[in-house]
Amino acid sequence: MTHRTVPDRLILGQILHFLDDPGEGDDPHSYAHFPQGALWIVEGRVAAVGHRRAVESAIAPERLAAAERFDYGDRLVLPGLVDTHCHYPQSAVIASFGRQLLDWLNTYTFPAEMAFRDPEVARATARYFLDRLLAHGTTTASVFATVHAASVEAFMAEADARQLRMLTGKVMMDRHAPPELCDTVADAERDCVALIERWHGRGRLRYTITPRFAPTSTSAQLALAGELYASRPDLHVQSHLAENPDEIAWVKALFPECRDYLDVYARHGLLGPRTIYGHCIHLSGAERAEMAATGTAAAFCPTSNLFLGSGFFDHAASVEAGLRVGLATDVGGGSSFSLIRTLDEAYKVSQVHRRPLSPLRAWYLATLAGARALYLDAFIGNFEAGKEADCVVLDERATPELEFRLRGVTGLAERLFALTVLGDERCVVATHVLGAPAFQR
Ligand code: GUN
Ligand code: ZN
Repeated sequence: MTHRTVPDRLILGQILHFLDDPGEGDDPHSYAHFPQGALWIVEGRVAAVGHRRAVESAIAPERLAAAERFDYGDRLVLPGLVDTHCHYPQSAVIASFGRQLLDWLNTYTFPAEMAFRDPEVARATARYFLDRLLAHGTTTASVFATVHAASVEAFMAEADARQLRMLTGKVMMDRHAPPELCDTVADAERDCVALIERWHGRGRLRYTITPRFAPTSTSAQLALAGELYASRPDLHVQSHLAENPDEIAWVKALFPECRDYLDVYARHGLLGPRTIYGHCIHLSGAERAEMAATGTAAAFCPTSNLFLGSGFFDHAASVEAGLRVGLATDVGGGSSFSLIRTLDEAYKVSQVHRRPLSPLRAWYLATLAGARALYLDAFIGNFEAGKEADCVVLDERATPELEFRLRGVTGLAERLFALTVLGDERCVVATHVLGAPAFQR
């Protein structure tokens, strides 16, 4: 007799997942949609997906009868949403009035991050943040901690307890920040090595080398970041790039020998697979080409970019240039934990460029594109057999406005578009992690 540690699970609903980028014309071969679908999950992984009757008939009746069942009727079941750039210590900074990036950092963000020298603050905030992610349908995120090693410790422990696939790392920052938030090259090396040893590859966690951005690290510290990235397989890198004109001018003044902002990271060995940069709004053609050639990804943060007045990321042009692009809330520069609300803003930003984000492509962006941008698509992003069974269940008629808007509407693209624009976390009915319910409305 086989001994299973977790029960088999059957999730029934209207299943939608992506196999590739639908492009600007919503290529019908890029996704699979099963209006009466089933997801069969064994040991937390997708064992089968498809039409309900086909999936059920392939399972031995006694095994099917013994499985845990979740019948979501005609609710949408999508792969768990992927937030490719956010800051958990900024959970309480969301909605702080009226500044652009550098002023906002100094006025609100740095003071808030100072509180994380207290491990208790870190633990309580990590719990709050992860609970909010799950309530918003997000199951994987690339997350900035603070300069304090304890902030990573707390986040990793809470994410591990929830069995989440999460990326995080200690912020490296050895200049141009309050002294309480600065480390040194030696501190950063000691802390990063210890944290990598302890957490990288444990459960579903991976460590991310996290120099905050070029202005707050010396060249020596950026070089250390590059060495760390190269030191072990599967380490990730995250930072910020070309978000705001004043920031870009500052980088130019600090690194006059570099061709442009991207070149600062390039010269320190910080481009390549598993590296992702937040914002990437004000980039030249040469910078985009180098990101594409090296496999360096961009995190599109439309709520943050509008909130901080940073500018309009050109999603269509970036993808056309060959970049991997994921969607991101950038909490607390962003104004919501919801990737659904973030898609609404992404659509509006794409309209500025007169290349509207199409309805199917939007949901690809929030799922498989994010997994690809983080180089985690071998594990998550869709329901291919063998992948980890993280999913979100959405009620596309959760509010009176959606219900009224969608009366008589049957087409998938029209329904998804209305959900993007009118929907939000009220539409999240449930979130499953490795098949198990982790949030239920
Ligand atoms: N650039 C450097 N640090 C930050 C940050 O915390 N948030 C945002 N939006 N941009 C940054
Ligand atoms: Zn950020």
